[in-house]
Amino acid sequence: MAAPGLLRTLFLMAVILAGVWAMLPAQNVSLVAGVIFVHELKREHFQGAFPSTHKNYGEILPEPPIAFHAQLQGFPDLPRWLRCTQRGPYQTGYLYGSPTTKDIGRQLIEVTAYNRDTYETVQQTVVFTIGPSPDTYMPYQAEFFVKNRDVEEVLPVDVQKQFQQALDAMLEQKDWSVINITSALDRGGRVPLPIEGRKEGVYIQVGSRRPFSDCLMEAKSSDNQFRCSLEQQPVITCYDSFSPQFQVDWCNITLTDLSSLSITEEVPMWGDGVLEDGSEYNPPTNSPERAFLSDYLLTILVPLLVGLLLCLLLAYIMYCRRQGVHKRDMKTSDIQMVHHNTIHSNTEELRHMASSRDVPRPLSTLPMFNVRTGERVSPLQGQHDSAHVPLILAQQ
Ligand SMILES: *[C@@H]1O[C@H](CO)[C@@H](O)[C@H](O)[C@H]1NC(C)=O
Ligand SMILES: *[C@@H]1O[C@H](CO)[C@@H](O)[C@H](O)[C@H]1NC(C)=O
Repeated sequence: MAAPGLLRTLFLMAVILAGVWAMLPAQNVSLVAGVIFVHELKREHFQGAFPSTHKNYGEILPEPPIAFHAQLQGFPDLPRWLRCTQRGPYQTGYLYGSPTTKDIGRQLIEVTAYNRDTYETVQQTVVFTIGPSPDTYMPYQAEFFVKNRDVEEVLPVDVQKQFQQALDAMLEQKDWSVINITSALDRGGRVPLPIEGRKEGVYIQVGSRRPFSDCLMEAKSSDNQFRCSLEQQPVITCYDSFSPQFQVDWCNITLTDLSSLSITEEVPMWGDGVLEDGSEYNPPTNSPERAFLSDYLLTILVPLLVGLLLCLLLAYIMYCRRQGVHKRDMKTSDIQMVHHNTIHSNTEELRHMASSRDVPRPLSTLPMFNVRTGERVSPLQGQHDSAHVPLILAQQ
């Protein structure tokens, strides 16, 4: 979905740079909450504003295909209650919807018309002023599903009037007014196959001050509900004056009775934290003072001190106890001297320890001891001492 949006933005930018862009004066529209509102986007109105139509005066130009796009000013889409629809580029566009009391106020809607042949655009701002409904209290509401119409086909005012008249005639009740119109596609309906006469269908919601007539209540009777579940036509005693223009699905009627609800309608209780309209929030100025010195000492000074101590320790190790460096500087002969002296003194120490023991000295520590024979020979004996014979020879 991002790519078409980006393309459209680029396209709009290109259009603006090329100067093929026009603006129509703003239009004011006022409407009331709680009833259907329809604003027609007439092709002729925008068509004359395309720059190309001014260039070729005198020529009879073919009707350009125009596509409408609408958005709330400063936002990418329309407000929740409003919808924009256009069946095809040669048809009228509609802005329609039923504002609620929450939508009361002013809303600026930007309507853009694209000429699909020349890529020109015309923009118009429509100022919607939504007022509270003076007497549109309609607690009895009924919704009909009209099978043979698309939403664009019931939006024109005269078609709405036709529907209303048929309803009045059928129910002998003259105060119905259309509250809401919803395409079946917005309620999970599907686009029908392109077969002649197939339509998406549209839901038309009407309201009245007077209770529902018996005829309407009959459609909801359990007998008729049962018939509907068997996909049969329900039996209704009054004459269906809708047909043939409007094919109402008598199995799909929703009746809403808000009369009991509105009497006991709860007025919301506002707490004391709710601001009045137009006022601003004043943050409290006298916040209690807090001492941050101890926090400061703890978070800054203590780690700093520890770091300093570590630094000092490291410096002491590095500069005052440099043993390793001295040893490396010594000459090899010095090392050998130290080595020799160490062995010598250790041997002396061992001898000394051994001589101070009570037991006789181990034979192996005595001079001139023959390991194999256990013989002790005086070192002063002659040249034929067997100990002088190499070991391998002596074994043979
Ligand atoms: C009208 O119908 C639309 C779509 O079903 C819904 O979102 C909207 O709330 C309805 N408006 C009123 C006033 O009932
Ligand atoms: C009819 O009404 C029912 C609910 O009552 C709904 O689910 C259904 O979508 C409606 N439309 C059609 C065409 O049956």
